[in-house]
Amino acid sequence: MKFLGMAVSAAFVLTLSAPVAEAAPKYVGVDGCKCHKSEIADWERSAHARTMDLLQPGKKASKKKNAGLEPDKDYGSDSKCLKCHTTGYEKDGGYSGAASTPKMSGVGCEMCHGPGSEYRALHKEKTTEFTRAEASAAGQLYGSLDPEVCNSCHKHKDNPFRNDKFDVQEALKNNRAYHTLYPLEGKH
Ligand code: HEC
Ligand code: HEC
Ligand code: HEC
Repeated sequence: MKFLGMAVSAAFVLTLSAPVAEAAPKYVGVDGCKCHKSEIADWERSAHARTMDLLQPGKKASKKKNAGLEPDKDYGSDSKCLKCHTTGYEKDGGYSGAASTPKMSGVGCEMCHGPGSEYRALHKEKTTEFTRAEASAAGQLYGSLDPEVCNSCHKHKDNPFRNDKFDVQEALKNNRAYHTLYPLEGKH
């Protein structure tokens, strides 16, 4: 019964090599990334930090009108808008209201980089000596490599202002958008 023996050992190998289940990454907010001072300073000045303002009544009134929205309506607690104008909306650790989670207002680091809790643990354990595969397994995203990171908001059908000409590589050059890019120092 050689055939059966092979099937059994293949199943055994698969079990052994299956990755240990990672804890699901949680959102930690910009404060959870506070070692990255220059990125935080840039981001605080950026358009992504202020995306909640756009939901206020009267803001961008004529553009809202043209997009079929109500210019005088307060969209600040509208779930249809919050998923792209906050950080981790309705996810573990993410935005759940202006009063309870003020620091999760706006499109924070984790909307482009992925929820941070597991990444922080990896970073702490291995400083910068970890691989991109390890970071990805911990929930990190790479917008410069995967256009879907940005397009999931910018080209999503529910975005009333979506611009189908939005091009990630072009957008990455816009220094009002997020932060100056420095070459990655670590292997990650
Ligand atoms: C799927 C993600 C997504 C959703 C849902 C979303 N937005 Fe946005 N919003 C964006 C993005 C991305 C931009 C930046 C413009 C662009 O698409 O390039 C934006 C821009 C805006 C702007 C600025 C437009 C301009 O031209 O200056 C306003 C105002 C706005 N959104 C309001 C809203 C309101 C109100 C809602 C809910 C009814 C909403 N958004 C829902 C992603 C979204
Ligand atoms: C709009 C998206 C976006 C936001 C918001 C954002 N980043 Fe980034 N960041 C990127 C991209 C894209 C890169 C290039 C590497 C990659 O593809 O992830 C990058 C790279 C980095 C790097 C690697 C070194 C460097 O500067 O090139 C660090 C560190 C970093 N970001 C920290 C942060 C922190 C901290 C915040 C929040 C304060 C933040 N980022 C917010 C998109 C973003
Ligand atoms: C969670 C949703 C979301 C994600 C993810 C996201 N964005 Fe945005 N982005 C927005 C919103 C909302 C605005 C509107 C800000 C405004 O008009 O003030 C915006 C604005 C911008 C702008 C216009 C800035 C300006 O005022 O000139 C650029 C450029 C941009 N994003 C690039 C990117 C890139 C590049 C990525 C991926 C690395 C990315 N965005 C990921 C939601 C998102």
